Amino acid sequence: MRKRHCPEPSVWNSSFTVARAPQPTFAIRRMAVHDILFLHDDPALFAEYDRRFGDRYRTKRSGSHLPQRFVDLYETAAKGVAPKSEYIAYQSIDTLLSLQQPHTDHPAEMTFYLVGQAKELLFKLVYEEICAARLSLVVDEADKAAWNLRRAAKALGPLTTTWDVLSGISPAEFNAFRDQLGSASGIDSFMYRMLEFTLGRKSESMARRHADVVGVSESVHRALHRSSVYDEALELLHRRGLLAGASGDGAWEPEAARQAWARVYQEHGPASDLFRLGETLVDLAHAFSRWRSLHLLLVERTIGNKPGTGGTTGIDWLRQAAEHRFFPELWEARSVLPSGAPPW
Ligand code: HEM
Repeated sequence: MRKRHCPEPSVWNSSFTVARAPQPTFAIRRMAVHDILFLHDDPALFAEYDRRFGDRYRTKRSGSHLPQRFVDLYETAAKGVAPKSEYIAYQSIDTLLSLQQPHTDHPAEMTFYLVGQAKELLFKLVYEEICAARLSLVVDEADKAAWNLRRAAKALGPLTTTWDVLSGISPAEFNAFRDQLGSASGIDSFMYRMLEFTLGRKSESMARRHADVVGVSESVHRALHRSSVYDEALELLHRRGLLAGASGDGAWEPEAARQAWARVYQEHGPASDLFRLGETLVDLAHAFSRWRSLHLLLVERTIGNKPGTGGTTGIDWLRQAAEHRFFPELWEARSVLPSGAPPW
């Protein structure tokens, strides 16, 4: 049985839990007539089943006592693999909904599990939008980049409100399954890390956590070493004559970058694509910081001062992480803007 928990109830006693053993167990047995329940939607397995038991269905031999449920499944499978609706096929909904395999029967674990998966999907969405924005900046399309950044900032909304769902899990409920996590922690979310790198927060040590993960380490390495969306925004300011100095490797003087953004805000105004780009980047950084702050708050109410499963001190470590700001010179530019109405 491939699945950790077989969702199929026992054939005759629906309250009996099938295929559960206290220890990892490997069992081999002959195919049986009731296996139609498990293999009716797999064409190769069904072909073998049909070879062995098809006669019983075709001839409806007396004494075979096939339950109607078996007959229905057999007849559907015999017509070919049951067609999927276009809705299911388009987004692989059946595959997606087969990926929930919590480690305990505690209902709160399913909530935690699903929210974690939903967050990973949304990290991916934000990541894709940021990658698209980065490419638009490379070819001087600031407004097009801002459009993708705007969508990324909006996606951070649902990412952040999922902390409310998790706050419905009491500390005792969380403790009922926390040991099952082992050393699993969001700190090892490679999608989150690639997102951070692409926004400009690079860290060799965080990338090293994925060094041995086949199929992941290459993508993490690429995200670490290519320019970030913010590097490309600064390059654009340079090409437009607002950011002086030489870079090429993205190492702009922070003071020069701060002054460049201050000029965009003071001199250009909302009619300028650079102004709109700056404010959209801040929208995104703002939304990201809210995500981090509410994560910190949730962790504090759920596990208090306990260390994290990923090996950090827990809330003290997260508090420091929550203070980080993406695109720092954009935030700092606020402090140097003069008082009074701008000229635009
Ligand atoms: C009650 C639920 C949760 C608790 C108690 C919790 C706790 C923690 C703790 C203590 C850390 C610090 C690293 C460590 O030592 O583990 C951490 C990091 C992290 N967690 Fe959670 N977490 C929870 C839910 C989630 C969920 C659902 C996600 C989404 C995938 C998530 C994503 C992250 C990420 C991305 C980090 C790394 C943050 C960074 O690098 O700045 N957490 N979490």
